[in-house]
Amino acid sequence: MKLILFDAKKYDKDYFDKYSKEANVDIVYEEQKLTPETSHLADGYDAVCVFVNDIVNREVIDKLCEFGIKLIVLRCAGYNGVDIKYAKNKITVVRVPAYSPNSIAEISIGMILTLTRKINKAIEKTRNYNFSLEGLVGFDLFNRTVGIIGTGKIAQEFMKILSGIGMKILAYDVYPNYEIEKELGFKYVDLDTIYRESDVISLHCPLTSDNAHMINKDSISNMKNGVIILNTARGMLIDTKALIDAIKSGKIYGAALDVYENEKNYFFNDCSKTGVDDEILKELLSLDNVIVFSHQAYLTEEALTSIALISLNNIKKFLNNEFLNNEVFYDETQDKIVDFRK
Ligand code: NAI
Repeated sequence: MKLILFDAKKYDKDYFDKYSKEANVDIVYEEQKLTPETSHLADGYDAVCVFVNDIVNREVIDKLCEFGIKLIVLRCAGYNGVDIKYAKNKITVVRVPAYSPNSIAEISIGMILTLTRKINKAIEKTRNYNFSLEGLVGFDLFNRTVGIIGTGKIAQEFMKILSGIGMKILAYDVYPNYEIEKELGFKYVDLDTIYRESDVISLHCPLTSDNAHMINKDSISNMKNGVIILNTARGMLIDTKALIDAIKSGKIYGAALDVYENEKNYFFNDCSKTGVDDEILKELLSLDNVIVFSHQAYLTEEALTSIALISLNNIKKFLNNEFLNNEVFYDETQDKIVDFRK
């Protein structure tokens, strides 16, 4: 099996190379993302491996089919970058549904605490020998309410941590899981209640055709004053301009963002010399109560190991004609994308 792995970084190579030989997969690492413009690079391979910001639209799928490629290996959970409906009966799509939900859950609490306890500012001050506590007054999370949107694998791990802190947990999901609700001790409510009652709102749902910009001017106006927004899910879930306006007006206390709606041009790359050409991102980064990570929530040794092992195992199953439990496909009888989530 000859695989071309797009948007390759050193850490991808480090982890895939550990296991690819044993799996009998020859990997060529390509730094560029897969896009309509770079799709010609896939000619001559049996499969492509892509990540969160590669663009696998109709045009790319047609090209891949032209080259005789039969498999798209997503080395991530989210599949919003692939036109799954169009891929039906043309090319198989597999993903890594969970690689380390704990990685994202653990960093999430760090991101909230960075805002509530001004950890970034404290570190900066002491580095400059400024040991005064001026400007560092924070607030406790204990007894406050967190609203979780999407109660899948990551959210469940996160809720365990939040319970330990003593937060009251409200949650919303289009497919509520009442067993988990009982087990973890949270309460399902509607979105309006999440907005109205939460001190912290955390996004853990996929980006779908229905929920782009779900955090927008209107939903923000229904939120509690001084709410904190945490997004480790997908950038497009938030209308960033509306978020910025609300932070500037004081309606929103602050935001911790691991993802950004136009991240694909910058995230994962060192732009310190070239700068960025995105006024919204620049404004976001200039705000005091905003922390932005460049989609690093998953980046742990454990997650990178799982990503490599599960991706290679997906390939093995495909080659052996075994049942693909990690396949994502469009089911016309239900008119929806099926991903064996539950
Ligand atoms: P999951 O599939 O286990 O859970 C997602 C949950 O969201 C499901 O319970 C589903 O019913 C629910 N959902 C779907 N549409 C919804 C909607 N419109 N409103 C509310 N709930 C909805 O996924 P998992 O593993 O927990 O990941 C969640 C998201 O986190 C992924 O979709 C991905 O976008 C993002 N992610 C981010 C990473 C990062 O490094 N920042 C790494 C991995 C995932």
